[in-house]
Amino acid sequence: MIETQKIRNFFPAIRAGRIISNNAASTQVPIQLLELLNKLVVQYDNVHRGQSKFSILTTELFEASYDTIAQFINAPSRKSIVLYRNATEAINSVMYSLMTEFREGDNIVTTFMEHNSNYVPWYGLCKEILPKFGIKVECRLAKFDKETGELDLNQLKSLVDKKTKIVCCSGASNFLGTKNPIKEIREIANTSGYIQPSGEKKSYLLVDGAQMVPNFLTDVKDLDVDFLVWSFHKMLAPFGVGALYAKEELLSNIRPFLYGGDMIAEGEVSPDKVGYNKLPWKFTAGTPNILGTILSAQAVRLIMDFSLNPGKFVYFMTDKKLELSDVKRAMEKVENHERILIDEALKILKGIPSLKIYGPDTAGKRTALVAFTCENKDPFKIAQDLSIMNVESRAGCHCATLAHHYYGLNPAASCRLSFYIYNNIKDVKIACSCVKKCVYSVQPKEKKNLLSYLRKSFKK
Ligand SMILES: Cc1ncc(COP(=O)(O)O)c(C=O)c1O
Repeated sequence: MIETQKIRNFFPAIRAGRIISNNAASTQVPIQLLELLNKLVVQYDNVHRGQSKFSILTTELFEASYDTIAQFINAPSRKSIVLYRNATEAINSVMYSLMTEFREGDNIVTTFMEHNSNYVPWYGLCKEILPKFGIKVECRLAKFDKETGELDLNQLKSLVDKKTKIVCCSGASNFLGTKNPIKEIREIANTSGYIQPSGEKKSYLLVDGAQMVPNFLTDVKDLDVDFLVWSFHKMLAPFGVGALYAKEELLSNIRPFLYGGDMIAEGEVSPDKVGYNKLPWKFTAGTPNILGTILSAQAVRLIMDFSLNPGKFVYFMTDKKLELSDVKRAMEKVENHERILIDEALKILKGIPSLKIYGPDTAGKRTALVAFTCENKDPFKIAQDLSIMNVESRAGCHCATLAHHYYGLNPAASCRLSFYIYNNIKDVKIACSCVKKCVYSVQPKEKKNLLSYLRKSFKK
């Protein structure tokens, strides 16, 4: 397991006594990143837009951040990395970049377990955008097994044909926790027979890695994905940066999503022709989230350190290359840690007869999240009661609306606990035993007035 006792102190939120158990939504920011932000303010300047030593220094750090991010997912170089505000924006960027390539009668295959971010953009394309241009494209949904929470690959295969431009699928579900068999889905997409504009015969594969990249090794070369998206606010960085990985030849050929400054080759604008910048800057229109980018890359480096060298900083703020073998070791430790946590959570929650737990039965098949409903008990009420007991959860459909309807849940909601690398078994035991109390209707007592706590801590 990860030596949590050596890293928990780095998280102000944990030091404040919070049991952080809503990590699938967003994780906490460690003190090293907050201190780094303070330091960066001294050299604060724009990138690619100045000759001062501060602009040059900031540009170097900013560009090196792309290298770190590329190395973490085993992308060949920074040319395959595009940064946006979040995973949702990254998926939308693919949709808009590919929009003009769709042909009459094409289809898109996605699944019933997707986050709305990997369904609604495709819905919008098929139902709202392309029909305006007289082009009919169908969006098909693959089913999953309600008991096991696993995708029905045979049915998915039956949906993919020579008209399937792209298959879009989550690497891991944010509701069921299921880790999807990406290599098998790749195989299905490869044999569709769809002819892409490059002449390649296959469907593209887009993987929503929002619950994958932070939690287990994601090697884009090994998985052979065409597009991968994820967000850094689910892996220790502050809010505001999401990533798109795409194969270099795809990024070279597809249209930019956003047009404007810095995505243009120096001097190449005339009334009749605009030349685009080299990769990845072709996709960086306007001043980017410079500090967020640097902090996101350093969050990746901190995950390497927290996993492999807890308490020491071998990767954080160094030039050390992230070798694939080291990323593999680090992420296997993260995955193993999470497996132990979720195994404990499942054991406790399975002991509550009135709970229905969604997703795979065994910890090995899922990430560190567990969603459940309770007979005759509103998930929102459970989440509110948990909050009173100082346990953080999320009630709702977690933007996996299709899947909640698929189960016929009314309201379309469940309650979810989710853990990350700084959580220990004690956190899991406390969170799950509080679920037990909520279910058995123990009236919770307010432990701490959060607002007065925050006010006090600001006065210090
Ligand atoms: C599986 C999945 N996809 C996409 C997203 C959207 O991420 P973001 O809000 O950072 O765009 C989330 C966030 O919860 C998610 O869990």
